[in-house]
Amino acid sequence: MSEGRGQWGSRLSFVLAAAGSAVGLGNMWKFPYITGMNGGGAFVLIYLVCILLVGLPIMIGEVLLGRMSQSSVVGTFPKLAGGPTPWAGVGWLGVATGVVILSYYSVVAGWSLHYVYLALTGGLDLGDAEAFGALFGETYSDPTVNLTYHTLFMLITAVIVVGGIQRGVERASRILMPLLLIMMTALLAYATTLDGFGDALDFVFGFHVESITGEAVLEALGHSFFTLSLGMGAMLTYGSYLSKRDDVIAVSVATTAVDTLVALMACLVLFPITFSAGMEASSGPGLVFINMPLAFDGLPGGHAWSVLFFVLLFFAALSSAISLLEVAAAFLIDERGWSRPKAVGLAAGLVFALGIPSALSGDATTMFGATDWIGERNWFDSFDYLASNWMLPLGGLGIAGFAAWRLGDRARRLSFAAGSAIGGIQGVYLAWLQLLRYVVPVAIVVVMLHALGLLEAVFG
Ligand code: PHE
Repeated sequence: MSEGRGQWGSRLSFVLAAAGSAVGLGNMWKFPYITGMNGGGAFVLIYLVCILLVGLPIMIGEVLLGRMSQSSVVGTFPKLAGGPTPWAGVGWLGVATGVVILSYYSVVAGWSLHYVYLALTGGLDLGDAEAFGALFGETYSDPTVNLTYHTLFMLITAVIVVGGIQRGVERASRILMPLLLIMMTALLAYATTLDGFGDALDFVFGFHVESITGEAVLEALGHSFFTLSLGMGAMLTYGSYLSKRDDVIAVSVATTAVDTLVALMACLVLFPITFSAGMEASSGPGLVFINMPLAFDGLPGGHAWSVLFFVLLFFAALSSAISLLEVAAAFLIDERGWSRPKAVGLAAGLVFALGIPSALSGDATTMFGATDWIGERNWFDSFDYLASNWMLPLGGLGIAGFAAWRLGDRARRLSFAAGSAIGGIQGVYLAWLQLLRYVVPVAIVVVMLHALGLLEAVFG
């Protein structure tokens, strides 16, 4: 380890931080609503297969590359290739992707903060679905609200990342992740008491084969990147703070398991509430911001539940945002030799500025709200589209390609086994390598062809 680079205090710290990165708005907000829109059970099953066959192998690959190089995502490729290499482009893409994602992620995270404020001040005592719909519409389009919370959220994120690995990221994750799991469990316990729980269980785990479409498969695959924070070096950067004694496979499996568990728990919290209130599972992105406060509104102690839920959403978003910012900060610290405060200040400032158009995108009459940026998308949606459909899969392809094809086999094999009993088993190593060499690239290329609209003829 080079002098001055951080390192995790323990293996558990890595898992908590990595799980904190993985568990985010993707789990709590996006996964339930795309599951709802795709008809439930079959989609969930496909998603689980994608996590296992694509997500987990890349996760192990990313963490492994980081631990081998002990460098930022930009430094990793030349360092492991033994000199300047075109693969370095994958690192640059990763830093850019982190900046792009965080710029709009911060805006959505800001809504969760705003809803905490509303819940605390009685602003969620609205009574009917229409009023909650209107409230979400107002929140989405109000420039003052969006800019204020975007600023606040970026400040909080930056302060934690300036604290460094052990004092900032690790300490925050050690508090945020257990709290999040406790809150989820409390909400889940409550959800099991609702009439709609049985229906929800059937919806999420019943195998409704008729709802499988090519589109659903592709969406499930794309989401497995986003939800596991793969394809932009977040896991690679966190892996770079591991020591050679740490078990890469165990921590990768644990991180993936926690992320998947929380996504399923989120469904089992959201759907019973949705069904019990007589609402539709397929209502889209509003599921969290409209249905949840509406459901809580009718409950005894509903205020407390609303506060709990939106604080939870905020925590989940914060620990993901920390990892997004750390990728760019680590690059400036390692490659440019900057001090941590200076690196974080510049990275956060850039993200903040780039997020302003996203914060203003909710007003359709403005330049950024106009739906003509990429296709028929406003600025915010264009950034999300660019990052989720292009930058992450491309980065994932690069990382998998480098780890599976460019890295020397001896070094890779030794590193895979270092600190890990399972990693020493030949069959496990070969299975991982084959997945990374063939299954992963094919799956990613399919997603991209789909995004280009070239698969429509096949899948309809
Ligand atoms: N995984 C995070 C979520 O589910 C988002 C994220 C993507 C974080 C990429 C870091 C890197 O919300």
